[in-house]
Amino acid sequence: MGDQVTPSAICSTEGCDKSATLHCPHCLKLKIKSLFCSQECFKSNYSQHKIVHSLQKTNLENNDVYEPWPNYSFTGPIRPYRLTPKREVPDHIMRPDYADHPGGQSECEEKTEGSTAIKILDEEEKEGVKLASKLAREVLDEAANAVAVGVTSDEIDRIVHEACIDRECYPSPLNYYNFPKSCCTSINEVICHGIPDMRPLQDGDICNIDITVYHKGFHGDLNETLFVGNVDEKAKKLVKVTYECLSKAIEIVKPGEKYREIGNVIQKHAQSHGFAVVRRYCGHGIHRLFHTAPNVPHYAKNKAVGIMKAGHCFTIEPMISEGTWRDILWPDDWTAVTQDGKRSAQFEQTLLVTESGCEILTARRSKGGQPYFMDNWKPEC
Ligand code: MF3
Ligand code: CO
Ligand code: CO
Repeated sequence: MGDQVTPSAICSTEGCDKSATLHCPHCLKLKIKSLFCSQECFKSNYSQHKIVHSLQKTNLENNDVYEPWPNYSFTGPIRPYRLTPKREVPDHIMRPDYADHPGGQSECEEKTEGSTAIKILDEEEKEGVKLASKLAREVLDEAANAVAVGVTSDEIDRIVHEACIDRECYPSPLNYYNFPKSCCTSINEVICHGIPDMRPLQDGDICNIDITVYHKGFHGDLNETLFVGNVDEKAKKLVKVTYECLSKAIEIVKPGEKYREIGNVIQKHAQSHGFAVVRRYCGHGIHRLFHTAPNVPHYAKNKAVGIMKAGHCFTIEPMISEGTWRDILWPDDWTAVTQDGKRSAQFEQTLLVTESGCEILTARRSKGGQPYFMDNWKPEC
């Protein structure tokens, strides 16, 4: 090779081939390579040039590479993706007290915090929780039907948000202690409280959708774990056993039973299949308040206070993990994941204690009440 002078950069203005050394400040910020020959050339072509800024912005926004916490060490493969802007609820829909609180605090809930007194619902209140629970089930059904490979959890959230509004419901999670979305979507190693984002669902994921709605003063709360595409045998077993844990717990609900007995039933079944019971998150009383007494742990030998009585309304919502029961929170202060990065599943129903047992207020009204993961149940399961 003969001597060659390194060619100096050419001006980024189209049609200008002068050598260039001046940077555009916007391009530097957006990490775009561009150089200009002179201020005059840059200015006279700015209306054309600025299009690359907006293109680059869109690319960055849609880019999967999004690192809100660059030094955070994740326990498993799931990563956070970008969130879409907050969704609004029209004014004619009744809102819970925390909906417009800057920190999302519920003053009504905090007033009764520490009390173990369990409300006995009167007839009007029973009708209120029944209706809210029925509507919550309808919303979950709409969300479940949208689950497919490639659909983002944000799209599920949009469907949930609109299904709530269609039914004159406020989506209870929205702004609850500043939770940013209208439902929780918890995938694979996410135990609960996953925030819907731009991550497309992947073949083999297990995805829990947790719906709570607030309708005319009452909440109804349920969740199911669904299969995305083809999941492996271990995940099928985990989801099935988790569902059985909830079913077995519901079977013992009747007046006179101790709340602390629920955890014994759940842990016995989970453990017999080699799975672990998450301890930090519990079932809860629910009616005019989202979370209230009783506290309902899902693990054995717990010290839960209270005895079931007709007219009590509460959830059971066991979270069962493949490996450790230990959880850890992401820096978003919501997403609870397993400490070993292995998967976790969950099912939840809202129950009303009756004279002889209980009514499952959020039961599926089709397919004999069976969960969605059993709709495409394969013989090898
Ligand atoms: N639905 C959840 C439960 O079962 C609570 C979600 S609270 C939220 O209790 F803020 F994360 F949405
Ligand atoms: Co829930
Ligand atoms: Co709940």
